[in-house]
Amino acid sequence: MRSAASPCRVLTGITTTGTLHLGNYVGAIRPAIAASRQDGVESFFFMADYHALIKCDDPDRVEASRMQIAATWVAAGLDVERALLYRQSDVPEVCELNWMLTCLTAKGQMNRAHAYKATVDAAVAAGEDPDSRVSMGLYCYPILMAADILLFNAHRVPVGKDQVQHIEMTRDVAQRFNATYGEGADGEFFVLPEAQVDAETELLPGLDGRKMSKSYDNVVPLFEGGLAALQAAIAKVVTDSRLPGEPKEPEGTAFIQLWDAFADAHERAAMRAELRSGLGWGEAKQRLVAQIERELGPMRARYEQLMADPEALEAILLSGAERARAIARPLLARLREAVGLRRSRRLTGAQAMVAKEALPPLVKQYREDDGRFYVKLSQGERTLLLSPGFEQGRAAGDWWKAVKTAPHPDPVVEAALQQLRELDAAKAAGKARP
Ligand code: TRP
Repeated sequence: MRSAASPCRVLTGITTTGTLHLGNYVGAIRPAIAASRQDGVESFFFMADYHALIKCDDPDRVEASRMQIAATWVAAGLDVERALLYRQSDVPEVCELNWMLTCLTAKGQMNRAHAYKATVDAAVAAGEDPDSRVSMGLYCYPILMAADILLFNAHRVPVGKDQVQHIEMTRDVAQRFNATYGEGADGEFFVLPEAQVDAETELLPGLDGRKMSKSYDNVVPLFEGGLAALQAAIAKVVTDSRLPGEPKEPEGTAFIQLWDAFADAHERAAMRAELRSGLGWGEAKQRLVAQIERELGPMRARYEQLMADPEALEAILLSGAERARAIARPLLARLREAVGLRRSRRLTGAQAMVAKEALPPLVKQYREDDGRFYVKLSQGERTLLLSPGFEQGRAAGDWWKAVKTAPHPDPVVEAALQQLRELDAAKAAGKARP
């Protein structure tokens, strides 16, 4: 059971190989942003750019896409102070966890992944070798996805139906890790995540009435191409050939589903009534454009602003990644310890004892002959940490502050840092006393 103190973590990623369409907005982005405003929810949204490399070897396209998608989330109203918005590749801990999980995953399970099997089937159908289109990245795609999710111990993962199998595989490997390495000192290592498939995700039809999807070439672009592109796309929505003045049955048409996605209950009823009493499709489509534009217009302006100033967006993303890493690092430190990527116990045991009982850790800031400022953390004879050289004393001070406040993956260093933190706390308490 989760207490109020540990909110429900919701996490989802979008592969950055293209731009977004109206279906992505209505099906994924809009509901995710609404959900991220709920109390007790901690949201993680990321650009899955490591995943993009699996499908795309065009660097400019990967670069452009991750910025476009990030700008879309911000423009659509995501509160980036509250939710975490980051690029997967700015959190390299993902790769390390990916490797640990890879080593616990059976090849046979990857053989059964739908996405991989579909690729094999397509190659076979084209008369090629079954493996000709399969990179190891594609083959291991579900493991990287599991790392994305487990690194933050997400509880809920909103995804499309095609991704549900990947969440099942994530639960599987999480369970295997928990079972293999036992419980961590403070409980199980991984939470088993749940897939959340919203019916709505599947609903928005494309221009031809089938699900809106790039692969059907029936999409309405979200921001790309501006209002003109929106108008041009809506003009292509397939309708019957009834003329203005003839009554039309709205139910089940692509038009009315698009309308409903941007209308309130009253507007939905009014549009149905007008179509039934003869409103022309041309006129109806113009109203649809205006209706969509009412919501998207201001967002598009913000989007264009963000795309014109990549530095501002970079700052948002890097700060999101820093917050994500502050969560990821301590878990990864526990995992490293659990799998045996740790200092030899006998050594650390002896050193830790010396450290604890005799010699307190020592921090020194000093200037070298090279004129630069350094910070050194030592204990007895041993240097535990040495900073890089800084031009400014203040920068060295800031480096130290950052090191001291974050958990350190090396348990010996962490023990020394913890002693210093406790000393600081004791001093502060002493000062606070009257
Ligand atoms: N595979 C997802 C997709 O193509 C994108 C993705 C990558 C993802 N990592 C994730 C989604 C983690 C949810 C959680 O849609």
